[in-house]
Amino acid sequence: MDPRSEVLLRQAELFNGTVLFAGLPADDLLGHFPDAQGWSWHAGEHALLDARFDHRCHFGTAPNEADVQAAVLFLPKSRELTEYLLNTLAARLSGRELYLVGEKRAGVERAAKQLAAFGQARKLDSARHCQLWQVRVINIPEKPDLHSLAQHYELQLTDGPLKVLSLPGVFSHGRLDVGSALLLEHLDDLPGGHLLDFGCGAGVLGAALKRRYPASQVTLLDVDAFAVESSRLTLAANDLQAEVINGDGIDAAPVGLSAILSNPPFHQGVHTHYHASEHLLRQASQHLVNNGELRLVANSFLKYPPLIEQHLGPCQNLAEAKGFRIYRANKR
Ligand SMILES: C[S@@+](CC[C@H](N)C(=O)[O-])C[C@H]1O[C@@H](n2cnc3c(N)ncnc32)[C@H](O)[C@@H]1O
Repeated sequence: MDPRSEVLLRQAELFNGTVLFAGLPADDLLGHFPDAQGWSWHAGEHALLDARFDHRCHFGTAPNEADVQAAVLFLPKSRELTEYLLNTLAARLSGRELYLVGEKRAGVERAAKQLAAFGQARKLDSARHCQLWQVRVINIPEKPDLHSLAQHYELQLTDGPLKVLSLPGVFSHGRLDVGSALLLEHLDDLPGGHLLDFGCGAGVLGAALKRRYPASQVTLLDVDAFAVESSRLTLAANDLQAEVINGDGIDAAPVGLSAILSNPPFHQGVHTHYHASEHLLRQASQHLVNNGELRLVANSFLKYPPLIEQHLGPCQNLAEAKGFRIYRANKR
């Protein structure tokens, strides 16, 4: 059980009834509260919750329309996303309770200050390195318009300017990541066919690929609903058409790919997490055609080449700059 859920269970009498758990972990929490519902924007956690608690967990960038008597937000990593989520929840909780639960090292105490906009916030519990806060929503905010919160920036690429839109909580919100910038400089000589941007975030690589290789089919994939929505906005802003998939890990990707491009994930929440990236390296060959290519940017300290060589083929170091490397390997 996630420690944040354990803290909620210590105060279980507060959460009986139609409570919405927003950003909930994929644990047994819903099993303890039969009238509660979940809202997740993480495709992997949502799939686990959906399999276990049929139709009780909604997926997307906004909650479903069901009326609830209270809501609990599990604190996400990004401050901007927290603000969007709190406002979205508070907008439908007039006179009702909004709770915030999070780990101390994730900054729950600081985030709880954001509750003051809605009323008098108070700390209800502190245990398992987590805190639980509560506010009765007296000052009701306007329902936020997610698209208006997108940050816009423009990249000057060799084939022209590319507009990028990123929504709250998306990787490298409002600016280009240094590793992605390096990969953007090394998009030459990709095989024609079907290209995948794995872990697409705001869609910068996928959009650049589609523009550079217009005859190729391009698919963008991310686990996070806000990333997928950002990628759709980025593609639309550049008049580009590509498939965008919300899915967890490379298993959710199509097969028959000619190349997989990625700035793969290595951080998740407050914990360092390599699982999705290592799984990508192990399984890429299942999704590539013969001689299909995997091209990655990664922090120089990440030891990917042995895994790439073990599961795909000889790994070439295409470039190195500012602590990042571009790796390339073709399926044997
Ligand atoms: C380092 S970011 C790169 C984002 C984008 N490609 C860029 O260059 O700005 C990695 C991305 O992988 C996504 N991600 C994390 N775990 C994933 C998983 N299991 N399956 C698919 N995508 C995942 C994250 O949401 C994030 O957008």
